[in-house]
Amino acid sequence: MRRSSPLAAFVATGLTLIVPLPAVPAHASTGSGAYVPGSAGLGDPYFPQAGNGGYDVGHYTIRLRFTPKTRHLGATTTITATATENLSRFDLDFSGPKIGKVEVNGERASYARKGQELVVTPRHGLPSGKTFTVEVSYAGRPKAIKDRALGVTGWIDTKDGAVVLAEPDGARSWFPVNDNPRDKATYTFEISAPEGLTVLANGEPKNSGVAGPRGGYRTSTWEMRRPMASYLAMVAIGKFKVTQGVVDGMPNITAYDPSLAKEFKHLHGITAKAITWESKILGDYPFSSTGGVADRLGVYYALETQGRPVYDAGMADEPTIVHELAHQWFGDSVGLRSWKDIWLNEGFASYAEWLYQEQHGGPSAENTFAEHYKHKAGSAFWKLKTGDPGRNGMFDWNAIYVRGAMTVHALRRKIGDETFFTLLRTWTKENRHSTVTTQDLIALAERLSGQNLGDLFDAWLYKAAKPKL
Ligand code: ARG
Ligand code: ZN
Repeated sequence: MRRSSPLAAFVATGLTLIVPLPAVPAHASTGSGAYVPGSAGLGDPYFPQAGNGGYDVGHYTIRLRFTPKTRHLGATTTITATATENLSRFDLDFSGPKIGKVEVNGERASYARKGQELVVTPRHGLPSGKTFTVEVSYAGRPKAIKDRALGVTGWIDTKDGAVVLAEPDGARSWFPVNDNPRDKATYTFEISAPEGLTVLANGEPKNSGVAGPRGGYRTSTWEMRRPMASYLAMVAIGKFKVTQGVVDGMPNITAYDPSLAKEFKHLHGITAKAITWESKILGDYPFSSTGGVADRLGVYYALETQGRPVYDAGMADEPTIVHELAHQWFGDSVGLRSWKDIWLNEGFASYAEWLYQEQHGGPSAENTFAEHYKHKAGSAFWKLKTGDPGRNGMFDWNAIYVRGAMTVHALRRKIGDETFFTLLRTWTKENRHSTVTTQDLIALAERLSGQNLGDLFDAWLYKAAKPKL
C-alpha cells in the first residue's frame, strides 16, 4: 500500500504547496512498453533481498490451520496487489513450508524457489496500474528464522501453540510477502486451531471472534484495517487467559499464558494507563484497538506488533509496556523506509520511557541523559553510528536504544520544551500510517524551530564518537 500523507507536501521553507498526487506512481506507464520481471529486492542496504519490485500490496488474507501436537501448518495466503510496471513475472519473499500451488488472477502460475525468493510467472503479463491477486497454498512444519546477530524471529513454537514475532525479516517464515516496511497493507487473518485453544492476532476479532467448531477445529477471524508493515503482523495460538476491556472508547484486549499470571496480571491495567498517557503526549492513538499478548517464547524480547504488542516471559515491567505501546506511534503508524533508520523507532520508544518516568515521580529525562553521558569518549558505548549501526547492530542496546533516546533528548535541549512537544505531535500526525526517513525528521525539526540542526544530528547520529554538549 502506497500512501503519502496529505501534509507531506509541506516543504522545509514553510511554503504550503499542496501538489495533487497522481493515482498511479509516475514511473508506471499504464499499458505501454515491454513486460519485464520485477526486481528480487528493494535495495534496503541491510536486507537487500527483502521486498520486491514492480508491485504494491493492498491486502493480505492469511487463512491457516495449525495443529500444535504435530506442528503442522496448512495455509493459503491471498494477496491483492497493484502492478507498478508491466510485469512478466514477480517475486515474493517466502521461507515457509512446501508449496502446493500458486495462482494469479485465478489461473495456475508457475513458480520457483531460490533462497528466500519465490519467483512467480503468471500465464499472462500484468499491466502496470492494474490490480491482481496471488494465491499461494502451502503446508508443512514452519520454522523460526535463527540469526546469530538478530536472534530468533518468525513462526515460534510454544508449548501449547505458536506465536509470530517477525522484526526485521521473519514474516517470510509463515506467509509469502513483500517483506519491506515501506509496503504497508491491510490484513485479514482466518486462523483455525483445535477447540479449546485461543487465537489472537492484530486488530479486532470479526463476528465475535469464533466460528465452528468443525472437525474439532475452531476458526477465529481478526482484521487489521489500518496499513501495517509485514514485520508487525502477529498471530498467537495457545491457552490464554483473555481480558477484554475498554480504554479511551476502544477495545483493550490482553492475554497471557496461564502460567504467567503472576507476572502479567497487571498487563491489562498498565496497557490502559500507558495508552491514555501516550495519547496525551503523542497525539491521537493511530489504531482502533489496543492490548497485549504474553507467552513463554524464549526470545528475550518484546515486540510492538501493531495494535497488540507481544511480551516474552520476563518482560512484564511497566517501562517495557510503555515502550512497546509508544512504538504504536513511532514505528507502527510512523514507519521506516529503510532499516538503517531503526533509531527512529527505538530512540523515540525509549525516550517515551524516560518521559513517562519524568511525569510519574521518577528521575527527569535530563537526569537519565546525564547519567548515560558520563560514558567516556573513546569507550565502546560510542562505538557504532546511531544513524547507521550496520545490519548486525540494528538492535544494539547502547547505540540504538540508549543513544537513540539521548539524540531525542539532545534535540529537546536545543529546541526547547514547547517546540519539542509540538514536534512529537506534529511528527506523528503528519506521518500517520506512512513511512519516513531521518531526513524527514530533521526537516520538520528545522521547520518548527527555525534553527539549523544539521550539526546536532550529524554529531549524534553519524559519528562513532561522543558528541560535545
Ligand atoms: N523492536 C523490539 C523492541 O525493542 C525489539 C525487537 C528485537 N528483534 C530481534 N530480532 N531481536 O521493542
Ligand atoms: Zn523497541
